Amino acid sequence: MDVHATLGAAERAAVLGLIEAVTAADGFRPLSDQKWVHLSGAAADAAAELAAASRAAAQPTATPAAAPPGVPAAGGVGPRGDGADAGDRAGGPDRAGRDANRVVRRGGPLALLAWIPASGRAEGPPVGYGQLQSGDGTWTVEVAVHPDHRDPQGTVETLLLTTALAVVADLGGSALRVWMAAPPPEREAVAQRLGFTLERELRQLRVPLPLVDAVRQATAPVAVRPFRPGGDEAAWLRANNRAFAGHPEQGDWTLGDLAARRREPWFDPRGFLLHEEDGRLAAFCWTKIHHETRPPVGEIYVIAVDPEFQGRGLGRALAVAGLEHLTAMGLTEGMLFVDGANTPALALYASLGFTPARVDRAYVRPVDGHGGGPERPQTPETPTARPIP
Ligand SMILES: CC(C)(COP(=O)(O)OP(=O)(O)OC[C@H]1O[C@@H](n2cnc3c(N)ncnc32)[C@H](O)[C@@H]1OP(=O)(O)O)[C@@H](O)C(=O)NCCC(=O)NCCS
Repeated sequence: MDVHATLGAAERAAVLGLIEAVTAADGFRPLSDQKWVHLSGAAADAAAELAAASRAAAQPTATPAAAPPGVPAAGGVGPRGDGADAGDRAGGPDRAGRDANRVVRRGGPLALLAWIPASGRAEGPPVGYGQLQSGDGTWTVEVAVHPDHRDPQGTVETLLLTTALAVVADLGGSALRVWMAAPPPEREAVAQRLGFTLERELRQLRVPLPLVDAVRQATAPVAVRPFRPGGDEAAWLRANNRAFAGHPEQGDWTLGDLAARRREPWFDPRGFLLHEEDGRLAAFCWTKIHHETRPPVGEIYVIAVDPEFQGRGLGRALAVAGLEHLTAMGLTEGMLFVDGANTPALALYASLGFTPARVDRAYVRPVDGHGGGPERPQTPETPTARPIP
């Protein structure tokens, strides 16, 4: 098992291959958008851009790729002990967890790679990948296991989650959340065996396009215009962070988060619709087209109404404007993700004709600091520690 603060080119390519295999087998990418952006490199590029900008402004922020204590830095496979796994490297009990945690946050997520020992040599692609990220005092991990290396017991997934728990314990403890995309029962059983409990559900909803006439007729349209890169960022961040205040993934976006999306190949300002009132950004609907699916699907990627403007029909008007844009782009199916507890949004989407297509689940577990994590797995016959060269 390896833990990296930053993946080298070869390791990243291997992980991308693993994600491709999982996507082909499951029919969807196993990582959330945020984790995918980090893995695919846009976040690193954006962080580098920000670091350059902040150097120019003499502000020591957003330093990319700072490795936490004991974790290999960019491209490297760090010092190895006697088959030690991540928990032995990522910080230690002599380190203040808070300090280590801060370094990890500044350096971005940690990558967990599970390998199969091959004749004493570290060869072959990884069979499992996990991305572990801290934020807002908690940690989140998402894992992907190669389809050829899944078993009913979830051995590789257990290894990845156990390692994540050990890393979090060594870095001072906190809560660890694991997001699972449309998990089959055996995946949820792994989380439950490791002491995680169900915390949240994220529902994927779909609607056929074009919208039916009755929906369009029941909507009072409002003026929208495309997002202007280089001009609308501050206003958008303000509206987004106000509308999603307290939301664990969406409530605290920075310019870097936005810049990372702008670098994604799917980014198209024509589908990022803003509505202003009295010169203020009141509501927006940001769409994203998934050309990789057959047929392509049009997603409402982020939609929100500034709290001051909610309850006046703007959410409905912007959702319809976004879906009509997707229809004009030739899409025949609309899609979005919504938190299972977001009652206003669920009511809105139901009234537009969306129906449930898939459920993702978040499991969470408290983790004691300073080595208080679970025991490390002892399964020498199965995928476990990468062999010592
Ligand atoms: C969800 C959100 C976009 C709705 O926007 P809005 O302008 O307040 O909503 P509207 O006035 O257009 O109302 C649209 C529908 O939502 C429902 N709704 C709005 N607020 C509601 C509430 N507090 N409780 C229950 N239903 C509510 C209404 O019943 C309405 O349905 P109808 O058109 O069939 O009558 C807005 O609340 C928001 O920005 N929330 C925070 C960000 C967010 O959660 N975004 C969605 C992420 S998936």
